[in-house]
Amino acid sequence: MFLTECFAPRAIILALTYLVANASGQNVVQRPLQAHAISNFSVGFSLQSFYGAAAVIFEHADGTLETHTRVYEPGYFYHQVMTKLSLKSSQHVAPPYDNDGEYWADVPRKTARLALKTVGLPASYEVGVLAAVVHHLRSQLESDFGISISEAVFTSSHLIALYQDDLEDVAENLGIRYVVPRLQFKPILWETAASYAGHGFGMCKHWQDQDRCLKEITNLPDNVVLAVHYSHNALTVSLAEIQTAFDTWEPEYRHVENFTLGSDAIPGYSSSDEYWSDVESTLLQIMDRFPGFAKPKIVMITGDMVHGYFMEFLKNTLSDYLGELPHILSSDATVVAAMGAAEIMRRTSAD
Ligand SMILES: *[C@@H]1O[C@H](CO)[C@@H](O)[C@H](O)[C@H]1NC(C)=O
Ligand SMILES: *[C@@H]1O[C@H](CO)[C@@H](O)[C@H](O)[C@H]1NC(C)=O
Repeated sequence: MFLTECFAPRAIILALTYLVANASGQNVVQRPLQAHAISNFSVGFSLQSFYGAAAVIFEHADGTLETHTRVYEPGYFYHQVMTKLSLKSSQHVAPPYDNDGEYWADVPRKTARLALKTVGLPASYEVGVLAAVVHHLRSQLESDFGISISEAVFTSSHLIALYQDDLEDVAENLGIRYVVPRLQFKPILWETAASYAGHGFGMCKHWQDQDRCLKEITNLPDNVVLAVHYSHNALTVSLAEIQTAFDTWEPEYRHVENFTLGSDAIPGYSSSDEYWSDVESTLLQIMDRFPGFAKPKIVMITGDMVHGYFMEFLKNTLSDYLGELPHILSSDATVVAAMGAAEIMRRTSAD
């Protein structure tokens, strides 16, 4: 406990990640009554700018897969929380720590969270609001499909003040095991990584055979991906480097979350040209700032407002800027992140 939360070297974190992943496999064996229910469906939850989504993959006895998704738009308080967590001013010290000074500086915050959790409350106001969304989605899947969900992979918008312990506490509050994918270095699976996996990229084919999988992974292309999310309340852009979904490299200086540039902002502008010009500069902002960085081979679009004029505008903007239009991934834009999380869950739990 202390070690993982403190400043464990990468090797230890990896080893622990492994143990957690393997423990899940053993659980399936130890609880024969639930074995069917656990081994033939897998769930992923996503917490995105304007909505939450869930995906469940059923694995039939003949090996065929069936995926279902649900979307829930929680409303004002959720939007307020997501907006707040996107701001630099909301950042605070949180695990994993860079040094022991940070560890001690974070003790009061963690003590307060623990006190709330001890009496059964969410660890913070934000955790409570996020947990309510997952609770809703979980209930919907459970009643629609007659299943009982006890573990899941979580993904979320890459917000600078949303931390690993927030997502872990969301899961803990609902009694859902927070599953960290095998082979994943960082404990949070951000939207870009999950969506890439949701499109079937960045993962090995033969995941049941570990050696073969590792070999395949080293041969995957290292792609530069421009990940764009567009919804009612936000425009987010990230220039990520991805070989496997699990080692997606999306450092702070290469992603932007703007919660005043969603489509709902249009009426507040004096002209729509002004709005689209702000959208354009945000789309190009990271590439402008790092002209030497490799240009994107893939543009991946998520969100609930990915249609019509936005897509046309995005394509024109990017082909003008880059000289050619990269490959565009925009199918299932609202739910592809949740689908990726569910697929990763499937690969973890079937171990
Ligand atoms: C899981 O598999 C068993 C046996 O193949 C089947 O009877 C059951 O309906 C499946 N459950 C779900 C939720 O798909
Ligand atoms: C969002 O975009 C608007 C318009 O370009 C800009 O004024 C604002 O500073 C941006 N906000 C953030 C948090 O980047």
